[in-house]
Amino acid sequence: VRPVRRVLVTWLFLGALSVEAQSSKPYVTPNAPLLGSAWYPEQWPESRWDADLALMEQAHMNVVRVGEFAWSTMEPSEGHYDLDWLDRVITLAGKHHLAVVIGTPTDAPPAWLSTKYPDTLGMNADGRYREHGGRRQFNYASPRYRHLCALIVTQMARRFGHNPNIIGWQIGNEYTDESFDPATRAQFQHFLETRYKTLDNLNRQWSTAYWSQTYTAWEQIPLVNTNGNPGLLLEHKHFVTATWRSLQREQIDILRPAILPSQFITTNIGGLAWSDNWDHYAMTADLDLASWDDYVGQGHLQSARNAMLNDFVRGWRRQNFWVMETQPGSVNWAPINNALAPGETRSLAWQAIGHGADAVLYWQWRDALNGQEQYHGAIAGPDGKPLPIYSEIQQLGRDLELARSVIADTVPHAEIAILHDYDSRWAIDFQPHSREYDQQQVLVRFYAPLQELAHSIDVIQPMTNLDGYKLLVAPSLNVIPQYLANHLLAWVQAGGHLLLGPRSGMKDEFNSLNPQCQPGPLAAPLGGRVEQYYALDQPVSIGKGTADIWGEQLSAIAPDTTVDLMYGAGNGWLEGKPAMIARVIGKGSISYLGTLPDEAAMRTLLTAAAQNAHTTVSTDSVPKDVELCIRSNAARTITILINHSSSLQHATLEGRYRSLFPDVSVVSNANTTTVQLSSQGIAVLEVSR
Ligand code: GAL
Repeated sequence: VRPVRRVLVTWLFLGALSVEAQSSKPYVTPNAPLLGSAWYPEQWPESRWDADLALMEQAHMNVVRVGEFAWSTMEPSEGHYDLDWLDRVITLAGKHHLAVVIGTPTDAPPAWLSTKYPDTLGMNADGRYREHGGRRQFNYASPRYRHLCALIVTQMARRFGHNPNIIGWQIGNEYTDESFDPATRAQFQHFLETRYKTLDNLNRQWSTAYWSQTYTAWEQIPLVNTNGNPGLLLEHKHFVTATWRSLQREQIDILRPAILPSQFITTNIGGLAWSDNWDHYAMTADLDLASWDDYVGQGHLQSARNAMLNDFVRGWRRQNFWVMETQPGSVNWAPINNALAPGETRSLAWQAIGHGADAVLYWQWRDALNGQEQYHGAIAGPDGKPLPIYSEIQQLGRDLELARSVIADTVPHAEIAILHDYDSRWAIDFQPHSREYDQQQVLVRFYAPLQELAHSIDVIQPMTNLDGYKLLVAPSLNVIPQYLANHLLAWVQAGGHLLLGPRSGMKDEFNSLNPQCQPGPLAAPLGGRVEQYYALDQPVSIGKGTADIWGEQLSAIAPDTTVDLMYGAGNGWLEGKPAMIARVIGKGSISYLGTLPDEAAMRTLLTAAAQNAHTTVSTDSVPKDVELCIRSNAARTITILINHSSSLQHATLEGRYRSLFPDVSVVSNANTTTVQLSSQGIAVLEVSR
């Protein structure tokens, strides 16, 4: 068995670690931004379909997503396909002017499949096999499961690939659960053999003399996702990424030759985009379009966080994206499933559009009468009649009718980017050292003041083309191998300004400590380094402010390395020591900030960094609760204002603007325009000529 499996596994992983885009076609959504919903006609009598679609059309929706959990309806028993109903669904949607996104149903295998082929079931990390009755019970690495997926996807591609009413394809749904069964473990071992070639090499890179972990045969290497050697844990993440990516690739390879060139291929990425199960850059590299599921869950829209998440998604492929799912008011999975306030659902959608979304789809149209999600927010009730949220979504539909022609083909542009990278995310998450070091919050601490300064921020991975950026901020770029240091340094030499945040450059690509100390291979160019790091249980003082969670004692070694910030009292080891150092390099500079300053101190520091990098600083006067987003193309610039508060707000912008919405008050004088925004109000503005 082993040689056969080896061939298969080698094929599976060939190229799967590269982030190089396999899809050359940049996808442009026609008639963007689209509005729609997930809809499960297989759960309802056919006599009801027309009424549902008519209500969608009346809400000004123009896209509907179907099919992604309907395997048991499409293939009721092995090899017996019934796709006629889906054909009728697509035709009927077309009559209501709704384009269709069709999902491959491979996230929810039918009972006959799990029963007949128990080897397709995945094993949880605790050693228990999953069962039928929920979804995602399959083993993502199982060749047999993939073969069964290929059969149903082939049927769908043949039947619907040339249907002009299908705008795109979604593969699976939110790739989530990995598997720890013996066959997958053997694949992992072979994956390691392909990467490391020899056990000597692996033993050296993982320092396996530690605790007698030394391996003398590939079969000895465990498959774990917690408490393992950090080198092994990092490789497991690479393996999970490569395995999901090859599963996805198999479906792409069936679809692409069989479908119209106009139809996109995507997958909807869950975990609020932030899940760290696998590398989102690698996974979306093979797709035409990135899409994500934007849920608020408990509480209310945290605007900076959700803005950052949208920018993060736009950064996966560095192009506009879709929100494939968002909540119509509330969810069913949070500790308290409160509803968003009136107007907030519309703001959530406009925020996504402001940050580059070209479609917003709700999950879901109407709850199934039974099944695990009966309490989830929906647009239509169990009686099929519109719920109160329907009118708010209908208003959004009206907004889009008014704004679509000017927003289509526009994208956000930024001079400042935040660097995010999965190896660094994982390396810190395996060993956070302080439970307070939440990497998303750390990122938002840098993002929020930068967004206030510049409005448009990119969030990108560092091993990409950095031309055009003036300032790069890397809040916790923990893994800096030599090749990444060289890449960043070349950009700095040419005039870029790089601000590294705490924990940067601690590790290499094997998750080993860099012997130069932080920031690893950038320590010599910086002319300084981290002498010691401290998890802080109390804030410390820095300059005129405070800092918390993490503090690093820095040293400036080169004579021209400057100390830009010092620690005051609060932690004996840090007192009087450098908290931030910087050095001019070529036409640019590198700075290293070893702690997490409070909001005001962070704003001061980042304002100085932006000035130093000569970024364009906005002179518009926008209240704190109002967000300003800009999308543009060569022909026009569109400004979107979102009042995230429940009170009346005014924003004053430089220049003369006209509002696309007749009910928004806009007063222009010679050089400025004042816009009045009601509670949760939205304004979409075009420069008036
Ligand atoms: C998503 C999932 C949907 C639905 C939704 C509920 O993660 O893709 O199928 O379960 O959550 O919020």
